[in-house]
Amino acid sequence: MTSPTDLDLLRELEPVAAANIDRHLGLAAEWMPHEYVPWSLGRDFDTLPWEPEQSALSDVAQIAFEVNLLTEDNLPSYHREIASAYGRDGAWGTWVGRWTAEEGRHAIAMRDYLMVTRGVDPVALERGRMHQMELGYDSGNKSPLRVMAYVTIQELATRISHRNTGRFTQEPVAEKLLARIAADENLHMIFYRNLVTAALELAPDQTVLAIRDEVLNFDMPGTGILDFKSKARQIADAGIYNLRVHHDEVVTPVLRQWQFFALEGLGGEAEQARAEVASFLEGLDAFATLQEEKRAARAARATSELAAQA
Ligand SMILES: [Fe+2]
Ligand SMILES: [Fe+2]
Repeated sequence: MTSPTDLDLLRELEPVAAANIDRHLGLAAEWMPHEYVPWSLGRDFDTLPWEPEQSALSDVAQIAFEVNLLTEDNLPSYHREIASAYGRDGAWGTWVGRWTAEEGRHAIAMRDYLMVTRGVDPVALERGRMHQMELGYDSGNKSPLRVMAYVTIQELATRISHRNTGRFTQEPVAEKLLARIAADENLHMIFYRNLVTAALELAPDQTVLAIRDEVLNFDMPGTGILDFKSKARQIADAGIYNLRVHHDEVVTPVLRQWQFFALEGLGGEAEQARAEVASFLEGLDAFATLQEEKRAARAARATSELAAQA
């Protein structure tokens, strides 16, 4: 049997996309970004310039919030990626439009919140946005299946990142807003995850290879953000998003939902790909433990240095 082409697959999956749009629309409650912003706190920046002390957010909470917002800001690039993978026609086109419109709300609400509350430096934020959007996001010429596998993992990663950032701020208004956005990301994840489930039935071997490629090479879409490495490390140290979270709360549950390791009747290449995923997960788990140990050692060192100074 020859494997279906990308176009065949998209055509065969279109009724599944249509059914999942209906499911999505039935669950996605309308919400208003303006209702999540405490407008009465707002002041003009020319009469009261921004000062770091004005922020109610800790340094790390500011970094996490900023990284999440700059990631959302790059929506035009993601739209281009999704639209070129799925096209503009039929159910796929409907989804691309709906998904883009929902995503657009995220940056609007987050930026309004940060400006009104003076949560982060507005000039640095704007410069960061310019940098990030000029760079854009380009995942290369991925097949629709790879895009589907990637966005399933990415939507779940984003959901958890927003939710944990909200909790970390310990600021009830921020927490409520980020929890609201995380709920959107969860529904997006379920849409894509269900499509991958259907693809695993239609073209199991090809889909397993696509999942392997994305699990092994996963990068958050925000990697182009200025100083991303140092920011990601601080976000990891705070437990907002790190290898442990990625392994336990993102990749493992998604693979379980797909019954990835229980699939039967795969060909040799797909079996091999699955073995690669298994050994990758073992490595990721070990790295996650190492990351936790290093963090604990750093924290212990900082505490003893403080004690020595006292
Ligand atoms: Fe989003
Ligand atoms: Fe999303």
